[in-house]
Amino acid sequence: MTKSKQPKETEMFIQSNLNLRASVKIGLFPAVLLMSVLSAIASQNSIAGEIKSVNPWIEKSLSSHVEQSDFSGNLSRDLLKDLAAKGEALFGAKFTSLDGVGRPLATHAIIPTKRRHLNQKLFNRVSGLDANSCSSCHNEPRIGGAGSFSLNVFASEGFTGQGADSTNPQFSNERNTNHIFGAGLIELLAREMTAQLHNLRKKVLRDARDSGRDQSVRLVAKGVDYGSLTASANGLVDLSNIQGIDTDLVIRPFTQKGVITSLRQFTVNALNQHHGMQASERFGLRWTGEDDFDGDGIINEISSGDVSALVAWQATLAPPVISTPEDTLWQKAAAKGEQLFDQLNCTGCHMRTLPLDSLKFFDPGPLDAAGTLRQSDSNNTAIYDLAKTEWAASLPRNSAGQILVPLFGDLKRHVMSDGEILKLGNELLSQRFVARNEFITGELWGVASTMPYGHRGDMTTLEEVISAHGGEARKSRDMYLKLPSQDRQNIIAFLKTMVIKQ
Ligand code: HEC
Ligand code: HEC
Repeated sequence: MTKSKQPKETEMFIQSNLNLRASVKIGLFPAVLLMSVLSAIASQNSIAGEIKSVNPWIEKSLSSHVEQSDFSGNLSRDLLKDLAAKGEALFGAKFTSLDGVGRPLATHAIIPTKRRHLNQKLFNRVSGLDANSCSSCHNEPRIGGAGSFSLNVFASEGFTGQGADSTNPQFSNERNTNHIFGAGLIELLAREMTAQLHNLRKKVLRDARDSGRDQSVRLVAKGVDYGSLTASANGLVDLSNIQGIDTDLVIRPFTQKGVITSLRQFTVNALNQHHGMQASERFGLRWTGEDDFDGDGIINEISSGDVSALVAWQATLAPPVISTPEDTLWQKAAAKGEQLFDQLNCTGCHMRTLPLDSLKFFDPGPLDAAGTLRQSDSNNTAIYDLAKTEWAASLPRNSAGQILVPLFGDLKRHVMSDGEILKLGNELLSQRFVARNEFITGELWGVASTMPYGHRGDMTTLEEVISAHGGEARKSRDMYLKLPSQDRQNIIAFLKTMVIKQ
């Protein structure tokens, strides 16, 4: 396995550590040499504009914060690149206690929650702090990618006390690290689909009122069917036939459960959960009445600009691609496998593409709510136009001019276990009131680069995870297992072309 290559902006931090070691050694050398090394470090740092004024031996990863107001409006290509570079640096930064790591008085809960007892253990592999940087987990095949089983997270919104020490599934749901490539496109699709569903709801309510009779509507957005909604003349709505999303008809594309709405929301959660780095937009004076909610002696740990930088980087990450194998045997096998993938109705859930109208990513987004910076809170809404990225031009468009996002997913939750096939029904705690055996269709783009498989990362081959498809996917899975072994291998050969570019 090749070790992931660290991109430039992350090297800034790594280099400053290496340089620190170098400069300690060089201290024995003439002072003039030391000065030239230090000025080289200073000039390197000032390229990325982050660590200008602070001496490189100070054990902080963040010596300044990104100013939200410096990055508002429709960002030029250069400003977007600059903001994303800052975000990459933050994603790769190993935060320290001087930056604000730790939350001795706060839990990892999404809603700011105080601990009942002081947390004596700063790091705890189960309830957090469980890592030093975002890229500690998201690192294969490179920064922003997925993680191996050893990087699993024990997710539970219920940890309000000292935190669980046990990996027993009674206390948390164990999830494997998924990759974030193409995440901006995923969020844009979810936003557009949510808007479509909300329009359908508005229309059926109006129709029911105007006609004085019950009216139903099929909830279809971009070809994905989320069941139906019935409205009555008095404005009541029957929600019982909605499928695969929450009853507020908001598509929440993130986590393998499909319960988080936006990169912004996720980022603020993750900073607190994994690192005890608390974003002021949630944990600051406005919502908690305190400027050091976690009681670690550091205030303003993460500014709104810092969160924006992290979002801009994640949102502009290139989507995975389908590669053409050099080996002609593999090419043939993959072509056959691709046809079988349709024939077995894998595409019923892993839809090849979903059409996207606009590449303009507003941050904060239309669905960011209290506890995350909101559009209504600031004059500083930024637009990251993904058309300005290097990869946008390579995405195909349909005849209507829509961008075809090749995600191999449907942004819908499905029941994945039944009375016989239980493997994916392994969780004991329901998350946000979603049934325990329902998961959002795993987007298969990049799947060849993200072994292991399944939401717990406990399956080592693609065949194992396909065989584990029960519930709504049972028919497809049974057909797969009935295929001659050569055809099963053809499907795997196809899946193995879906890579994250190194
Ligand atoms: C200890 C490992 C770990 C660390 C550290 C970590 N993540 Fe994650 N990340 C995960 C896991 C596991 C998931 C999947 C969660 C789930 O499915 O419930 C995930 C999912 C995500 C997702 C959603 C991806 C999707 O398509 O569903 C985003 C976005 C994300 N992480 C961003 C971050 C950011 C930003 C940081 C740093 C502030 C971070 N992560 C730190 C393990 C980690
Ligand atoms: C009813 C919807 C549905 C159908 C049909 C379906 N899948 Fe899936 N698939 C899912 C869901 C949901 C997941 C995520 C499972 C989990 O929680 O780990 C998934 C996950 C996967 C994964 C693992 C992704 C990863 O990164 O771990 C592969 C591979 C996969 N499916 C292949 C297939 C193939 C091949 C077929 C056809 C034989 C198929 N699926 C049919 C819904 C479906």
